[in-house]
Amino acid sequence: MRVPLIAANWKMYKTVAEAVKYVKELRGLVKDLDGVEIVLAPPFTALHAAAEAARNSNVGMAAQDLYWEREGAFTGEVSGQMIREAGAEYVIVGHSERRTLFGESDATVNRKLTAALAVGLCPIGCIGETLDQRERKETFDVLDRQIRQGLDGLTSDQIGQLVIAYEPVWAIGTGRTATPQQAGEAHSHIRGRLRQWFGQEAAELCHVIYGGSVKPDNARDLMAQADIDGALVGGASLDVRGFLQIVRGARAPV
Ligand code: 13P
Repeated sequence: MRVPLIAANWKMYKTVAEAVKYVKELRGLVKDLDGVEIVLAPPFTALHAAAEAARNSNVGMAAQDLYWEREGAFTGEVSGQMIREAGAEYVIVGHSERRTLFGESDATVNRKLTAALAVGLCPIGCIGETLDQRERKETFDVLDRQIRQGLDGLTSDQIGQLVIAYEPVWAIGTGRTATPQQAGEAHSHIRGRLRQWFGQEAAELCHVIYGGSVKPDNARDLMAQADIDGALVGGASLDVRGFLQIVRGARAPV
């Protein structure tokens, strides 16, 4: 069975001091919680300090992006090895903000996913349709293209280690959450394609989590859907108490 994964994407919020304070508080609050995996994605500047503050706790760390080269003259970029060494086990790849604001494509997402896996980072690869695409009834076509091109060349073993985040672009930061039914349909579609293209075992192991205006009051209903294995939480993760409520709502029966 897939243990639910709740990941906080802090985006460009929290200084080093704010991140450390949050982690110290959260680790105390979740120390006896099992049946859920908890991951925080601070900005790069706070990643190492946050990882140190989370050491020997059940709170894991993610970076929000990586570059696919190991090292070199790539001003402003950070490699997978550097992220591992800073204390993260996960990395978010291809978030819709990276795609729309920073020109990332399915091809760059593919290179980043491959690079992350090569250094032993677990990628959280993001996919999802825009409002226009949904209204034109292209959601499943868009997801198919993002899965096919984003995951091109990965083995079934690698798919089994992956986390895919379904984040409908129209639900991100808008307060407009997908209904559990809308999200559930998209997740079942994604799982079906993974099964078709990478096999039953890979599809069963891969986590498919939902992101887009997840809040304490809607998390439980979303997570109750069969193919929703957790959440990638933006705004509502910035407050430690609100995030804790979402984490509690996601726990698998133990
Ligand atoms: P919000 O939860 O703020 O809508 O953001 C979702 C998101 O982008 C998580 O990666």
